[in-house]
Amino acid sequence: MGIQITPSVLNADLSRLADEIARIPSSDWVHIDVMDNHFVPNLTLGLPVFESLAKATDLPLDAHLMITDPDRWAPAYAEAGAGSVTFHAEAAAAPVRLARELRAKGVRASMALKPATGIEAYADMLAELDMLLIMTVEPGFGGQRFLDVCLPKIRRARELISAAGLEVWLQVDGGVSLETIERCAEAGADVFVAGSAVFSAEDPDAVVRELKARAESISGAV
Ligand code: DX5
Ligand code: ZN
Repeated sequence: MGIQITPSVLNADLSRLADEIARIPSSDWVHIDVMDNHFVPNLTLGLPVFESLAKATDLPLDAHLMITDPDRWAPAYAEAGAGSVTFHAEAAAAPVRLARELRAKGVRASMALKPATGIEAYADMLAELDMLLIMTVEPGFGGQRFLDVCLPKIRRARELISAAGLEVWLQVDGGVSLETIERCAEAGADVFVAGSAVFSAEDPDAVVRELKARAESISGAV
């Protein structure tokens, strides 16, 4: 599939979400951060807003659910128009069952790991996933500093995916910028979330294109 960029609208102008999404046409996906003030100490948006956004753009939506009880709520995001739904490993009661349910609903099933959550316990379930998200900040807020401590886990995840002969996409989220994207690409990530780096720029779409070019230059080299 190659390198993909999925800007997060968390740090965009939230009163004009559809307009903000229209400013990033070069994106492969739009990353929507759903937070419930329980799994993370922040509250963003839920199903009704998500459903409206799906109708307002032709870009596919990448739902990142930072919520308690995804087993109950994640399938509804598939029905609301998501192309990919990510739940957190730390929050899911039955991750394999949930991934299968998402796939059965016709969306890409994805699981996220917080910075301190190891990959090894989930190695055997990678075949159930279309994407693995390695968080590179503690989830909850945009604009945080990239955590280099997560790079070995990205590398390890890429090794596990390759060794199993799987096509699982490897996404990174948190502090990804023109300065940090090359480290992530070098470690093996291929799907990049970037929030503040994109929406703090005067020309957000130019940053999307530049992020992609930088990641591509590395992935071509390894
Ligand atoms: C953090 C969110 C991220 C965040 C990314 O909890 O999941 O998607 O908005 O924003 P930046 O790129 O600013 O770290
Ligand atoms: Zn996110």
